[in-house]
Amino acid sequence: MLSPSLLSADFGHLVDDVELMNGSRCDWFHLDVMDGVFVPNISFGFPVMEAIKKSARKPLDVHLMIVQPEKFIPQIKALGALVMNVHQEACVHLHRVLHQIRDAGMKSGVTLNPATPLCMIEDVLDDADLVLLMSVNPGFGGQKFIERTYDKTRCLREMIDRRNLSTLIEIDGGVNRKNAAALYEAGADVLVAGSAVFEATDPVAEVDALKGLAPH
Ligand code: DX5
Ligand code: ZN
Repeated sequence: MLSPSLLSADFGHLVDDVELMNGSRCDWFHLDVMDGVFVPNISFGFPVMEAIKKSARKPLDVHLMIVQPEKFIPQIKALGALVMNVHQEACVHLHRVLHQIRDAGMKSGVTLNPATPLCMIEDVLDDADLVLLMSVNPGFGGQKFIERTYDKTRCLREMIDRRNLSTLIEIDGGVNRKNAAALYEAGADVLVAGSAVFEATDPVAEVDALKGLAPH
């Protein structure tokens, strides 16, 4: 599956880019929320996400790069998001938060920074519907993919399969035509792509190209 990150869209013509993606083969819309505290950047919040929601004809995959993400569960639910991703590093009571997300009727997603080892989510793997592995340090689009992500993805795939879980693996940061096939091969189910899609001459064709690299 492919989840284009609207962080790299043209904010001056955001609805046009959402419409463009509506007409593509992409699966979800990835929405990157940054608070300037958890990450050294600020992106957008609810008014912008509500505008996106009005035009979006694909499910919303919300990635919260914020402290205390649990405060916003009701608002993310009201937005109608399919997935609510919270960072492991931002949640003291991660088990509780993942269950609160599920109880609100959304897929519970837990995200790991590149420096956070997989063992940090070993005890909550059953409570997560999705694990999002960051393949760059969160905060900015257009960064270089961290190669170590391949091994981390393979290890996570093994952990999930060993426990007979159906948890999805999503990879975020620096994904492009060069690494997409290897990431799917390593066990990824969903790839996020921001600059690769929106900086392409033809974003719809780029979605096609990236989708074409997924195993059938
Ligand atoms: C980074 C964000 C990513 C980012 C991906 O903090 O979480 O979703 O927008 O952008 P690219 O694909 O350009 O690395
Ligand atoms: Zn993201």
